[in-house]
Amino acid sequence: MKKILVVYYSQSGQLTQIVRSVLAPLEKEQGFSVVFEELRPRKEYPFPWTRQEFCDAFPESFLQIPCELESLKIKHDDEFDLVILAYTVWYLSPSIPITAFLQSTEARTIIRNRPVITLIGCRNMWISAQETVKSRLNAMGGDLKGNIVLTDRTSNLLGIATIAYWMFSGKKERFMKVFPRPGISDQDIRDAERFGHILLESWRDAKLDLNQEKLNCQGAVKVVPSLIFFEQRIQKVFSIWSRFIRRKGGPMSPARKFRVRLFFYYLLLAIILIAPLATAVSGVVRIFRREKIKTAVEYFSKG
Ligand SMILES: Cc1cc2nc3c(=O)[nH]c(=O)nc-3n(C[C@H](O)[C@H](O)[C@H](O)COP(=O)(O)O)c2cc1C
Repeated sequence: MKKILVVYYSQSGQLTQIVRSVLAPLEKEQGFSVVFEELRPRKEYPFPWTRQEFCDAFPESFLQIPCELESLKIKHDDEFDLVILAYTVWYLSPSIPITAFLQSTEARTIIRNRPVITLIGCRNMWISAQETVKSRLNAMGGDLKGNIVLTDRTSNLLGIATIAYWMFSGKKERFMKVFPRPGISDQDIRDAERFGHILLESWRDAKLDLNQEKLNCQGAVKVVPSLIFFEQRIQKVFSIWSRFIRRKGGPMSPARKFRVRLFFYYLLLAIILIAPLATAVSGVVRIFRREKIKTAVEYFSKG
């Protein structure tokens, strides 16, 4: 019997649907047992979010300061043949509950010497978060076999508007019936089942013979060159803002309310003015830095 553990955290249920789709072929197969471990923060994060709460989650997300989690349901001595870590991205980092899991002593026991697959469902910016997750998994002695990424298909700018509507209303619907539907499409979620089939095929013999190349043949990771440099630039600004806010206290502290609000206005300005400008500049930069971009795309495509 092959035992698979899926650790995940989803707010709207979108990532849960992705997880279920990928794991469906394995759940149906005899000889496989799939255990779902949904992380439960002691103090739940709101969904839908208010503007203040959404921005207040920024410093801890970005700086990877964990929240408290309820105890895991799996037993301490449960052993798994594969761990799937399914996560969403918050402010270029793994969501805070996933950060908390990755920093826990339980994670160390679960992940050490185990094959791991990461499964991401986010808007479009996952590269920095995956670098963080990779280094944490490495430090715990996990054996990362591959990465699967599902993202929104709309353009970066439209995607910001549609996801904002979704996050603040709780409705995964078309904003004003004009904008595209937010999030990952139902079709893409259904099609993610193909990754479950790859997993099954890779397990025909006793050992799991899986790598990123196999997954990429089915479109597991598609790197958007302009977003690599976008993320690098945003990282620098986020680093300054997160420390600036944290200096006034921890999550939802009244003393930092003003700075959190300032950050919201910065985000607005960045979306309205800086993002379109940066998109245009990155188009030009791509012409002059072809080699560097090619190397970066190759590197991040490896998962
Ligand atoms: C606070 C917050 C910050 C987010 N930041 C990012 C981000 O930096 N990059 C990204 O691609 N998506 C980002 N998202 C979108 C999420 O990764 C995810 O797609 C969305 O929250 C739906 O996930 P769910 O399954 O938990 O509902 C963010 C979402 C939230 C709530």
